[in-house]
Amino acid sequence: MLESEFNRINLRKMVVKFYTSVLSDKLIGPIFIRKLGDDLSGVVWATHLDTITDFWASITLGDFAYKGSPFAPHMQLQDLSREAFQRWLELFSATLNSMYEPDLVVELENRSELIAANFMRNLRL
Ligand code: HEM
Repeated sequence: MLESEFNRINLRKMVVKFYTSVLSDKLIGPIFIRKLGDDLSGVVWATHLDTITDFWASITLGDFAYKGSPFAPHMQLQDLSREAFQRWLELFSATLNSMYEPDLVVELENRSELIAANFMRNLRL
């Protein structure tokens, strides 16, 4: 059954599912593994998964749990490219489609595309 609303429980599941697919992707998996390792159930990833769950909760639920600055960490990463962002968006879309009803999918696809476009512009990609 597809989810008909966002909540912290399904956002957390979505985030875990998304990064599981990211880690096994040949193009962008290595970028994440270099920074955070490949153990999704370890401490380093737990922190990232918490941060990202807060990030999407602040967007979809309007809570204020996320207090970071989303762009900054991406400035240090090697191998970012338009192709890498495209892959990120494809994997994100596939995850959303596997979990949420279409209107919710579109909402987060639109948000992620806008953010990715901003990141690429700031990175001069
Ligand atoms: C190819 C594309 C991308 C790659 C390889 C990538 C990689 C990463 C990595 C490795 C981190 C952890 C950095 C650290 O802890 O120092 C990170 C953090 C983060 N990323 Fe991305 N990312 C990508 C695209 C995106 C997009 C499109 C979004 C949003 C729609 C996003 C949102 C975030 C957020 C919110 C954080 C946490 C920032 C913080 O610490 O507050 N990323 N990303």
